[in-house]
Amino acid sequence: MSVGPDEWETYFHNNEPPGNLEDVKSSVDRFVKEHGASNRKIALVTSGGTTVPLESNTVRFVDNFSAGNRGSSSTEYFLLNGYAVIFMHREKSLLPYLRHFHFQNFLDWFKLTSSVEQQASLELSVSSELHDRLVKQLSVYEKVKKENRLLHISFTTVTEYLFLLKAIAKIFDRLGAIGIFYLAAAVSDFYLPAPEMPEHKIQSTGALSITMKQVPKLLSPLVREWAPKAFTVSFKLETNKDLLISKAKQAIERYQHQVVIANQLDTRKRMVVLVTSSDEKIIDMSDAELTQGQEIEQKIVEDIVKQHNLFIASS
Ligand code: PMT
Repeated sequence: MSVGPDEWETYFHNNEPPGNLEDVKSSVDRFVKEHGASNRKIALVTSGGTTVPLESNTVRFVDNFSAGNRGSSSTEYFLLNGYAVIFMHREKSLLPYLRHFHFQNFLDWFKLTSSVEQQASLELSVSSELHDRLVKQLSVYEKVKKENRLLHISFTTVTEYLFLLKAIAKIFDRLGAIGIFYLAAAVSDFYLPAPEMPEHKIQSTGALSITMKQVPKLLSPLVREWAPKAFTVSFKLETNKDLLISKAKQAIERYQHQVVIANQLDTRKRMVVLVTSSDEKIIDMSDAELTQGQEIEQKIVEDIVKQHNLFIASS
């Protein structure tokens, strides 16, 4: 089943834009003006999964597995390569720099060094591991912050994501080739149109059957209308390895953008394939690299930066 341009109009017509849309446009506009003026390359990185509400007063929604690891770590590597980044992420998903403190219970990093009875003089000690980790991340983060190179924008539902992406893309278009889209978010493929959504919590009075519509593919208007001069990288996720490369090639042919990064759910942290109209390149990680804590996103972003530079030079 394919979805054409009319469906886009219908989608935006039938759904309410997010309340912060105008604020987001203003902050993106300022960010793009500031970095565009110095010809700095700017990446829009999308990250995390979108939700699909089942009720207007939402109690239940459909979600997906994405934690935002790919997007948040790639953002750090774009920043390391001198880019400014608009980090468009699912609310409460992993964030650049902060993600390095995510895997452990926050309270376990600290210890009280005086007893509770002496409350007036309670003191905290920080583990040396946390201290070293903080110094490492803060030294990069503070520089990025001082240079105002990272802008956070959050979304939750697929509708918020689509309205925000469209608005940002139209502003991004002014940048021409120095703008890059890196679409790592896991965007819902099916949704319940607002006019068909029950207003209140669905009652549990028996089996539930819901028919959802296909969400229009945003890559099509993005590449053709909203920001045709930018460098666009999309991701293709499959669980069946026999489908992966053919689907990635299909996407390149259909949308005519620059790169599809093909990844399989269970191996996504150790192998991806960068598919372009003329090439398929495997990027993988050895056991030793993974044990040392190296990340595949570093290699992916380095390769994408090279391709982006060639694209800018030829534009
Ligand atoms: O966040 P992590 O846990 O680290 O996981 C990272 C990831 C696996 C989510 C990431 O690497 C990834 O593959 N992201 C894309 C997942 C996805 O949506 O794949 P897809 O095959 O369903 O869609 C392919 C492309 O179509 C995507 O770039 C998407 O932006 C685009 N799309 C999807 C839906 C839609 N309505 N319109 C679109 O254009």
